[in-house]
Amino acid sequence: MDTIWDIEGIRSQYPALKDGTAFLDGAGGTQVPESVIEAISDAYRSGLSNVNGPWAASRRSDRLIDSARAAVADLTGGQADGVVLGPNMTTLTYRLAGALAKTWRAGDEIVVSELDHDSNVRPWVQAAATAGVTVRWARVDPLTTDLPASQYAELVTPRTRLVAVAAASNLVGTMTDVPAICAIAHAAGALVYVDGVAAAPHVRLDLPAMGADFLAVSAYKWCGPHAGAVVASPGLLEALHPDKLAPSTNAVPGRFELGTAGLANMAGISAAVDHLADLVPGEGSRRERLDRSFAALTAREDAMVRATIPRLTGLPGVRMVGAPTRCTGTICFLVDLVSPGDVAARLGERDIAVWSGHTYAWELTRAMGIRDTGGAVRVSLSPYTAESELDRLVSAMASMVSGSPA
Ligand SMILES: Cc1ncc(COP(=O)(O)O)c(C=O)c1O
Repeated sequence: MDTIWDIEGIRSQYPALKDGTAFLDGAGGTQVPESVIEAISDAYRSGLSNVNGPWAASRRSDRLIDSARAAVADLTGGQADGVVLGPNMTTLTYRLAGALAKTWRAGDEIVVSELDHDSNVRPWVQAAATAGVTVRWARVDPLTTDLPASQYAELVTPRTRLVAVAAASNLVGTMTDVPAICAIAHAAGALVYVDGVAAAPHVRLDLPAMGADFLAVSAYKWCGPHAGAVVASPGLLEALHPDKLAPSTNAVPGRFELGTAGLANMAGISAAVDHLADLVPGEGSRRERLDRSFAALTAREDAMVRATIPRLTGLPGVRMVGAPTRCTGTICFLVDLVSPGDVAARLGERDIAVWSGHTYAWELTRAMGIRDTGGAVRVSLSPYTAESELDRLVSAMASMVSGSPA
């Protein structure tokens, strides 16, 4: 499987892996390679002043922000001057919801989905309540966890102003048909806000190909620092007027960014995108190298997921949650008679890190009837995941369900 994926070479770049923990918790946040740590430390070492000052350290800060915008644009297929940077996706989504809601009128409608992480649900639902806007819900098939795109033809009406939908579920990995949903929304004149946080670490994102108006990502899910970004066309951002301080810039995209940026993290964002582009050796522009890396990463993770699921479901009492038609590098399961929290705790005792619970897939876990029973266990893959770590997971699960201590 690993002909072009030098897994040992990749793992050697991650200092945190040296303690032997199997970090199968990437969907909650990844580890970072040395190059990201270095870029962040270097930013501080070289001297970091606030932006827009007439001396070298300030100009360096300006460049760090410009480079981070360019890096996120390369990662998402967007334009650098349409990249809004911020502390995380949730904060940015509340920010965009506030700005968009100013353009809504009572009686308008928005569409949110049951599949989404709550950060692409609640900001819209709350903004809609304030603006007197009706919320309509896209439903998940509770057996497969697919989000059928066809339902949007009925959900979207001439009153729809916004459709918010995830490119992928953070809990079960289900990938949605974003281009189809965008086509339906746009035909009715609605905008589409896509949560790309759970998709970006696993598949190549391309904003124009998706057809979305906004695409949100979080760098700490793709081997970068704790920072988020929303990508849109600069023209669309120009049309929106978020609340802001009187002296802060009115230019786009800075108009959407509150306060002073996490400047050192900006260096980390660029280094993380460079790292992703270099996962597979080869020449080309950063976008071309990202194409190549993600083609290999997606294929590798698909193969690992396909190989691991039957090994887990072959164990007594282990059941997958959902059966998505298209899925990211994510495995979500339940174990009869052992709560998801206990599964995670027992794996944690063996230095295997997996998340359990609702993982903020608040409506999805409710729709599936598992929110009040502890949610589910989530295993998620990262570029540094070794097959031997999945072997460790399977054998730990085998001894857990057989009741054996070893
Ligand atoms: C799919 C998805 N969307 C949004 C978020 C929220 O991201 P942030 O922590 O950057 O606010 C998460 C975080 O886990 C997520 O998995």
